[in-house]
Amino acid sequence: MKLIFLTTALVSYMLPACLGFPYEQEVLHQTKHERIKKVMADYKDVANAIIDLAVHGGAQNRSYNRLARFVDTIGNRMSGTENLKNAINYMYKALQEDKLQNVSLEPVKVPHWVRGEESAMMLKPRNKSIAILGLGSSIGTPPEGISAEVIVVSSFTELHNRAKEAKGKIVVYNQPFVSYGETVQYRAYGASEAAKVGAVASLIRSITPFSVYSPHTGWQDYQKDVPKIPTACISIEDAEMFARMASRGETIVVLLKMGAINNPDADSFNTVAEIVGSKYPEQVVIVSGHLDSWDVGQGAMDDGGGAFISWEALSLIKDLGLHPKRTLRLVLWTGEEQGGVGAGQYYQSHKKDISNIDLVMETDIGTFMPTGLQFSGNTEAQAIMTEIMQLLKPINITNLYGNAEGTDISYWMEAGVPGASLIDEIDKYFWFHHSQGDTMTVQNPVWMNLCAAVWTVVSYVVADLEEMLPRER
Ligand SMILES: *[C@@H]1O[C@H](CO)[C@@H](O)[C@H](O)[C@H]1NC(C)=O
Ligand SMILES: *[C@@H]1O[C@H](CO)[C@@H](O)[C@H](O)[C@H]1NC(C)=O
Ligand SMILES: *[C@@H]1O[C@H](CO)[C@@H](O)[C@H](O)[C@H]1NC(C)=O
Ligand SMILES: *[C@@H]1O[C@H](CO)[C@@H](O)[C@H](O)[C@H]1NC(C)=O
Ligand SMILES: [Zn+2]
Repeated sequence: MKLIFLTTALVSYMLPACLGFPYEQEVLHQTKHERIKKVMADYKDVANAIIDLAVHGGAQNRSYNRLARFVDTIGNRMSGTENLKNAINYMYKALQEDKLQNVSLEPVKVPHWVRGEESAMMLKPRNKSIAILGLGSSIGTPPEGISAEVIVVSSFTELHNRAKEAKGKIVVYNQPFVSYGETVQYRAYGASEAAKVGAVASLIRSITPFSVYSPHTGWQDYQKDVPKIPTACISIEDAEMFARMASRGETIVVLLKMGAINNPDADSFNTVAEIVGSKYPEQVVIVSGHLDSWDVGQGAMDDGGGAFISWEALSLIKDLGLHPKRTLRLVLWTGEEQGGVGAGQYYQSHKKDISNIDLVMETDIGTFMPTGLQFSGNTEAQAIMTEIMQLLKPINITNLYGNAEGTDISYWMEAGVPGASLIDEIDKYFWFHHSQGDTMTVQNPVWMNLCAAVWTVVSYVVADLEEMLPRER
């Protein structure tokens, strides 16, 4: 997951225009509800078969084992790297070997930022090396580095109030972690805000509630017409140390060296595979995760887990010999971490088919213990999804929440297509996010089995309903 949680609420309370008296509405509503319940009763056996195969049967731990082999073989997968090319080739082959249909690579262009050598050293009040991770799109420093006094602030407001003190200095942001969505503003915009008051570099407390001396990277955005200054994240531990030193009136000097380079956009691909619909092949349910990652850790959690339970959904449906009426399309996005870049180009080249895109699904906030589904769609569609979730009673994961999220599916949701995302126990997600800690060690096969079961039941049933999910636009 990249920048900001998107809260694309497409909930609508419009009633069909044909309805007359409130009583009549009530009766119609009742019958509709009864009808949905009846349709879902027919899916009970197939839902149980999916759950059995994924959780207890022959496919137990498969998505976990596939992911482990993949991340141990390929490693992390940043846009523009050989690793990402290898990952795409690996998946292209694996999806064909899995006998999925229409396996294809759709070319797109992605940003190509290279971290290079980087280091930071505190020179005053004493020598101490500072762990850093440069932020994506940051410029580098001159080879000899930037050596400057530090000013520590805890918010943009404090920076603006002390603007005069910041000139020529390195701004250290020691902002508290409130939530990812709120606090990530410092990572995204910290450099430009510091540059506006004349700072020469910025060091930002990592966007995480917890740390074992771990810097966390991520994309950042320079504002137009503001000088570009080098920027990196530091650990919570060092940010707090700088803050304590500053509060005691000690002078802090840091030497920052970053070899970061922004190269021209690179060639990449969204990786696609299908189970072609048996009755309405032109109508599509998209299940997805992103294949690219940051250049630290293994990208097992962000978003290896999401990508591999999405693959698993198609594998399970194929293994059970199911033939949904609509096409199930797996898309493994590229260039997500740079701002949903691969998905944006996919949307541009496929939006002509928007009336045939039934539902877009993405998992990109972990595959920990699943707790339910987030869904964006109108009230009628919500009623259908609520009943689909009841099919997951055998594993007690029946909650339907609002506001699906996912950078890659946001393009479709903003245009009115219903969207769904898996929600899990994410309290530890940001401990590992975009850090060296994002490895296979945080993944759990039992949780991945449950995630795959939820993902598969939902995508299969929606793809197999006689009608597409209702939508407003
Ligand atoms: C799946 O993983 C769980 C947890 O590690 C383990 O108990 C179980 O035996 C595994 N199942 C298979 C089929 O390997
Ligand atoms: C997808 O596969 C189906 C069945 O194999 C085939 O009929 C169809 O032409 C394929 N579509 C594309 C775009 O390749
Ligand atoms: C501190 O580090 C600087 C730069 O690496 C070095 O030149 C200097 O000798 C060090 N000072 C001490 C006291 O170790
Ligand atoms: C089912 O899940 C809910 C949380 O959604 C939990 O409160 C309840 O205890 C669970 N029930 C069982 C039987 O595990
Ligand atoms: Zn992600």
